[in-house]
Order: sequence, then C-alpha cells, then structure tokens
Amino acid sequence: MAYSVPKLTDYSAPALAAAVGECIRACAIEAAAVRNDAELKAFRDRWIGRKNGILPQINELWLKGAPKGAKRDAGIRVNELKAQIQELVEGAHVARENADSAAAERVDISLPGVRRPIGAEHPVVKTTNEMVRVFQKLGYSVAEGPVVETDYYNFESLNFPPNHPARDTQDTLFIAGQQSKPQRERLLLRTHTSPVQIRTMETMRPPIRIVIPGTVHRNDPPDASHSPMFHQIEGLAVDTNITFGDLKGTLDHAMKEFFGSNVKTSFRPSFFPFTEPSAEMFVSCFICGGSGKRDGSAPCRPCKQTGWIEVLGCGMVDPNVFEFVKDNGYDPKKVSGFAFGMGIDRLALLKYGVDDLQYFFQGDVRFLQQFG
Ligand code: DAH
Repeated sequence: MAYSVPKLTDYSAPALAAAVGECIRACAIEAAAVRNDAELKAFRDRWIGRKNGILPQINELWLKGAPKGAKRDAGIRVNELKAQIQELVEGAHVARENADSAAAERVDISLPGVRRPIGAEHPVVKTTNEMVRVFQKLGYSVAEGPVVETDYYNFESLNFPPNHPARDTQDTLFIAGQQSKPQRERLLLRTHTSPVQIRTMETMRPPIRIVIPGTVHRNDPPDASHSPMFHQIEGLAVDTNITFGDLKGTLDHAMKEFFGSNVKTSFRPSFFPFTEPSAEMFVSCFICGGSGKRDGSAPCRPCKQTGWIEVLGCGMVDPNVFEFVKDNGYDPKKVSGFAFGMGIDRLALLKYGVDDLQYFFQGDVRFLQQFG
C-alpha cells in the first residue's frame, strides 16, 4: 500500500519518532524503486511537489494540527524529516544520472562488429613464396642480405674487376658521398641478389643449397615493364662434383613444378662474370603453349610470338668467385657449383595477367584487393 500522511493524535516524543520513521522508510523504498526519468519526476512531485506533495501535507496535518504545547517539538521533528526527504530525492536524482551514464558506456553486444579487412599477400610476395617453396622442397634453405651493399660484394667478389665493362650493364644507383673511401668499400644499392652468394659462402661451409629472395635497384625509369626497384630470387648450390647436368635438371624440374609439368625449358649461351659457362634459360610460353599465337591466329605478346619466355640467368660458379672464399672451404679445385638468378616481378605479371608493372608498386588497395 502506498504511503499516505496519517493524522496525528498522539504528539508524544515516541509517537512523533514513529511517525517520522515510517514516513522516511516509505520515501526510501519509493526512491529505490525509481527506474526512469518519468518515474523520477513522479516520485519527486509526490514527495516535495508544492501543491499536493507529501511534505506540504505534513506541514498542514502535523504542524498546524499540533496542540499548543507540542508545536515546538513537532516543528523540530518535521524540519529533520524535511531534510531527510530532500536528501532522498537528491539521491534518487544522482542515482538516475549515474544509471544513464553507465548505460551510455555499456557495450551493446547485439550491434554488428567493426569489420577489419585482414589484407592479402602482395602478388609479388605470393609469387616469391611459391618459387621459394619449390626449391625448399628440393632441400634448399633461404638466405638474405642487405639492400645497401658495398662495391666489393655487388661487383668485385663476383668477378667484376674495377672498370670492367660488365659493370655498365647493371645501371647502378650509388650512394652519394663515398668518393673518399677505397672503391671496394663504397656503398650502392645492390643491383642483383648475387652478392648474397658470397656473403653466404663466407659464413657457411660447403655443401650449400640456398635460395635468396630480395629487393634490388637499378637506374631504370619506371614504365609498364621496368621499375627502379624490383625483385629477384637467387640460387646457389655448391658441393663436390656438381655439374652443368645438375643445373639443367634442377632448373627444369623447378620450372615444371612452378608453371606446370607441360612446359619445356631451353638453355642458350650467355655471359655473366661470376659464372662460366653461363646461360639464359627460357621456358616454353605458358600463355600460348609455345605456338607464338593465341586462339589460333592472334600474335602472343608475352613471348613476342617466339613461343619462349626468358626466365633466368644461370651458370657454373666461376672459379674466380670461389677464390674470394677459398679459406672457408671453397677451394675451386675441390668444389664446384651452379648459380641462377631470376626476376620475380615479371613472372608475377605473366602469372596474374597484369599489363603494367607499376600497379605492383603504387599501393592502390583497389588493385591489391583483387588478390585477397
Ligand atoms: N645477377 C644476374 C642479373 O641480375 C642474374 C644471374 C645470372 C644470377 C646468372 C646468377 C647467375 O646467379 O648465375 O642479371
């Protein structure tokens, strides 16, 4: 039953205390039951509203109705009661505000979550990983080296003597301000991953089988098929009695594994200072199947209608290269090896049918999303 103000007949101290106590208890119970702003307003009006509030009623019924001798005591009691009721009403306000801010902070687990795109492997990284995997299955491990390299590792130890014209083919980007150093210590951006051959042989004794993926730089203006920054995968196998037959067998197997078992490989003589003999390897065009024509008549552009695509340079490690690491077990009279290096960006272009190399390096999410 809701509280209503009783008429007082007994104004003795215990009777007053009991009436006050009952009133405060009732107010406290109602304060605790307030659930929302509308209820708060109703509660407030009911207890302290000027017109019909319980406090004005108490004034009316308890004070004015008090017999003369009890007025003073009743007045003190009622004042205390008012203060307590005010406090309860204040408290109810504060409780509501707290409840509101708690509700604002509460997590609504029924709302849909925030989507965070998980990203995708870049096509060049994907192609690199696939090629590296092919060699890992053959027992090769992965090595890496610095992109800012010395003249010694990029050229000298790979049998490019100072001033040798083969250096010109590399369109090297040199680091500025190196002139005061001896030539072999001057820094440059590595033009190929081959320096890691020497770096690895300096730290690992033969036999070794490694592949070296990495970024390289050359002074080539960017266009649909060139970029001043691109990627290579280098390979090196050194052991006793490694022959050109091992080179051919390994690379032929790797290409069949990567492009599909029906591709053919072809080796044509070439020159690299760090291999002798040297070759360029071609695979039969996996776009036109080696015919040079698409759909029977249209010219096949990727292979320039030749039916063959050049994929890498390779050769038997030149004995002059082993001389630089002879002390670590690479006596050219005792060991032999083969090496190869391929550009991975062009393979990714062909594989994914992309017609402009620049797309790979512009970082446009709309392009990259297609590989997700
Ligand atoms: N480093 C050569 C280049 O970038 C590619 C290459 C050719 C690497 C023959 C080799 C190799 O290891 O044996 O043009």
